[in-house]
Amino acid sequence: MTSVTSAVPEALAAGLVAADRATLIHPTLPAHRTDRTMLVSGSGSRVRDAAGREYLDASAVLGVCQVGHGREELAQAAAEQMTRLEYFHTWGPLSNDRAVELATRITGLAPDGLNRVYYTSGGAEGNEIALRMARLYHHRRGESGRTWVLSRRMAYHGIGYGSGGVSGFPVYHEGFGPSLPDVEFLTPPHPYRQELFDGADVTDFCLAELRGTIERIGPERIAAMIGEPVMGGGGAVVPPADYWPRVAELLRSYGILLISDEVVTAYGRTGHWFAAEHFGVTPDIMVTAKGITSGYLPHGAVLTTDEVAATVTGDLGFPVGYTYSGHPTACAVGLANIDIIEREGLLGNATAVGDYLGRRLAGLTDLPVVGEVRRLGLLMAVELTADRATRRPLPHGTSEVADALRVQAGIILRTNPYALVINPPLIFTREDADELADGLRSVLSRTDAEGHVR
Ligand SMILES: Cc1ncc(COP(=O)(O)O)c(C=O)c1O
Repeated sequence: MTSVTSAVPEALAAGLVAADRATLIHPTLPAHRTDRTMLVSGSGSRVRDAAGREYLDASAVLGVCQVGHGREELAQAAAEQMTRLEYFHTWGPLSNDRAVELATRITGLAPDGLNRVYYTSGGAEGNEIALRMARLYHHRRGESGRTWVLSRRMAYHGIGYGSGGVSGFPVYHEGFGPSLPDVEFLTPPHPYRQELFDGADVTDFCLAELRGTIERIGPERIAAMIGEPVMGGGGAVVPPADYWPRVAELLRSYGILLISDEVVTAYGRTGHWFAAEHFGVTPDIMVTAKGITSGYLPHGAVLTTDEVAATVTGDLGFPVGYTYSGHPTACAVGLANIDIIEREGLLGNATAVGDYLGRRLAGLTDLPVVGEVRRLGLLMAVELTADRATRRPLPHGTSEVADALRVQAGIILRTNPYALVINPPLIFTREDADELADGLRSVLSRTDAEGHVR
């Protein structure tokens, strides 16, 4: 790994912040916020800002950077490929060696039956393809009426009009006009939110709702159900062990395809190559991105079965393609990234350090604002609450806590309105875990029931 570079001069850093305010549109940043954290370098689980301050990256950026920052090996892989064949598309009969090598590699790691790969440049693109594949699959089989897609509230699948249309937070729908039609949202299997289940068993409740929904809409009108194995944006919502097996069985009985969105969970995040292994369920279509290259280049891969692939290609071909599908440099980086994950035993580390960090975080539940700690492997959440008895969210949300963690404790992590989402690089150490747990305790012990940090 490279060492972190020194700080940029103060005047230059101030100029960067001013230019940022004048030019960049940041996702999710309100206009009144004038502060910026200007990152300039990174190594391992740390990044550094323009003033030379170091931060612990407890988010792996956005659940992406499995192998950590500053890996020369990945830069080398990109440079070598760029000087040989930087880029070509894979439309029609054109192909390239790297795209084939990576497809062979990931189908070898994936659950049996997922033998075919369609490349994208990210997660939302992958879900667009998955939705198109599902509808086209039924259309080509003579069931054109199957257009409906089932999703869950609190799901996050990206911000395309299809992927955003099946995302279950109101913010992706309000103000944007009509999005994907024929979408139905179901209850998320979120055991902490007991009030959703009327005292019933979580899986029994969700299965009854799923069956009722299918019967109401009509199975002959439903193409697919899409879901994250563990809801990442929802706050590491780990379903009961029997949820996915029972959902998959029910969908199969109605001829409805299962799309598993493994954009966050794939490539080691849960201690397995894919969360499908943990739950023992092989979907019809599996969407991956993020960790495939650890974010060194944007990339993604949609995996599916021979049967779905044969149907959506067929004599007419699969009619939709991205400019960058099968990008050889992204694929070369993906291969080198998987080499690192294998060579350094990062799946095992995700399990071992995940267990350790999980124990440390569980210790935070003595704090009044901590409602629950959840996790699978190195995908974790600390749910915050104003009142542990009612599980009411903090009225001011989690953003002040996230800011305090960054500014006061030097820790970067992601939040949703209810929870701190923790998914560090898979190279995280016990020492990193201790630093994170101590920083969280320091800030959360000063957080009041409104969500303000003293
Ligand atoms: C589960 C899941 N699906 C899809 C996406 C969208 O991926 P992208 O931002 O690469 O389009 C994300 C992004 O966080 C995600 O968490």
